[in-house]
Amino acid sequence: MEYKIICNDEYETIEVAQNFESEKFENMVICLDGELGSGKTVFTKGIAQALGIEESITSPTFTIIKEYDSGEMPLYHMDVYRLDGNADGVGIEEYYNKGGIVIIEWAKTIKDILPEERLEIKFKVVDENRRMLVIKPYGQKYEELCEAVL
Ligand SMILES: Nc1ncnc2c1ncn2[C@@H]1O[C@H](COP(=O)(O)OP(=O)(O)OP(=O)(O)O)[C@@H](O)[C@H]1O
Ligand SMILES: [Mg+2]
Repeated sequence: MEYKIICNDEYETIEVAQNFESEKFENMVICLDGELGSGKTVFTKGIAQALGIEESITSPTFTIIKEYDSGEMPLYHMDVYRLDGNADGVGIEEYYNKGGIVIIEWAKTIKDILPEERLEIKFKVVDENRRMLVIKPYGQKYEELCEAVL
């Protein structure tokens, strides 16, 4: 099963993120892919905002993993672009069961170490303000999540 939705501006992307946050569960893993500037970090900001995280979310350019603890649940925001596919020794897997929400930008570059059960969202640039989100759940929990949210 695959869902496709169009977000007509960045606020609609944030709204989609908020809708997923409202159905959150511990150890939820969300994998984001799509070209530079397609909206992965905007989506992450939507999740963070809904969690009540006060710090501003920045792209973790120099740190691969950023941890935000001021919200309802910890948020682990990763951008694995710079790893160039080599995640050895980074310890990404340790975050899959820490009880928070894990968001991984450029997840497909480390597909060998992604958890079997996860939500995948691919961002496609339609034009300046529009993005197509192709959303794919892996595992029953994530299928139910999509049914609840979409
Ligand atoms: N519908 C939309 N949804 C999300 N972002 C949008 C949308 N329309 C325009 N934008 C703009 O596109 C940009 C998306 O930037 P963002 O940092 O989220 O991209 P990214 O996918 O995280 O890129 P990177 O791979 O560099 O981390 C922002 O400047 C945002 O304002
Ligand atoms: Mg980003």
